[in-house]
Amino acid sequence: MTDVLVKKLRENRDLSDGELRELIESSAHDEALRQAADKVRRERYGDAVYLRGLIEFTSYCKQNCLYCGLRAGNRNAQRYRLSREEILSCCDEGYALGYRTFVLQGGEDPYYTDDMICDIVRSIKEKYPDCAVTLSIGEKPRQSYERYFAAGADRYLLRHETADPEHYAKLHTDKMSSENRKHCLRDLKEIGYQVGAGFMVGSPYQTTENLIADLRFLQELQPDMIGIGPYISHKDTPFRDEKNGTAELTLRMLSILRLMFPYALLPSTTALGTIRPDGRELGLKAGGNVVMPNLSPVQVRDKYAIYDNKICTGEESAQCRGCLEKRIESAGYRAVTDRGDVKRASR
Ligand code: 5AD
Ligand code: SF4
Ligand code: FES
Repeated sequence: MTDVLVKKLRENRDLSDGELRELIESSAHDEALRQAADKVRRERYGDAVYLRGLIEFTSYCKQNCLYCGLRAGNRNAQRYRLSREEILSCCDEGYALGYRTFVLQGGEDPYYTDDMICDIVRSIKEKYPDCAVTLSIGEKPRQSYERYFAAGADRYLLRHETADPEHYAKLHTDKMSSENRKHCLRDLKEIGYQVGAGFMVGSPYQTTENLIADLRFLQELQPDMIGIGPYISHKDTPFRDEKNGTAELTLRMLSILRLMFPYALLPSTTALGTIRPDGRELGLKAGGNVVMPNLSPVQVRDKYAIYDNKICTGEESAQCRGCLEKRIESAGYRAVTDRGDVKRASR
């Protein structure tokens, strides 16, 4: 039996708001969605799953996002910073494990000046010219983004979190705005980065309309990467009593994204693996084609606590690498170790 809505989404890469609402709110289309998403993903990317070595280099953050355990106001958070040398030794370890993309992620930490970030990026690119460097360090002035790019950064991840300004305001303090977030994303694209946006699924106060707005914003931005994961509460945040997002809705959204953005790099995220033990495998089967194993030094891993019960905090990098490879294979895919750039060309 063909699912008319899913077929239409696959063919047109678009639906009306009403049709999207039906897909998002009903579980009746899940199996058809998943199958179509996997088909489209295999047409473009085969069975390849790209690995990104994630280095969480600072747990300090000046922002106060209400959902996040690293928020400045969380006095129980354990804070750490990695030096340039420590970051480089994570890259050494990652390179030996086959990673050809390093993602430097951190809170918004003014300790790292633009000079320092550029120096770190340059050092990695000098040592590993065949690798891509991805930055994920939040909102910065355009000139800073330009400097990192000139220093060799290839990609930038900045989730838009939610495209609806009113919903955005409910999740952040008034220091932050949806408008500035989108502005940053447009700057990053104009500068020439491969850009990643994305949102949390099931964040507090989120409605179906908000999710549709996220899809519409992504259609406009056309990012190379789209990172989504379920919201998971953290005990030391104002949202400690809020409900977690579900794997079910996250998987559904992943499949919808794959059908709307066949070319996109879609990570099957750690958050998805945290709310459900086989979450990342299911994420790959639902259209995901990227995983981001942790490369941070084991001593600091549990300190990068953006939400509770985060997985992979006790394991060495090599253990995560082996574990993930098995999971990728058990889901029916293959871990590849090239840079894994976006495949936009063919339609
Ligand atoms: N649950 C799930 N994801 C979260 N993030 C931050 N806090 C949480 C949470 N409590 C996500 C945000 C951010 C990314 C680095 O992690 O989307 O952009
Ligand atoms: Fe800081 Fe990012 Fe957490 Fe917001 S989500 S508090 S910017 S680390
Ligand atoms: Fe990290 Fe399994 S992927 S331990």
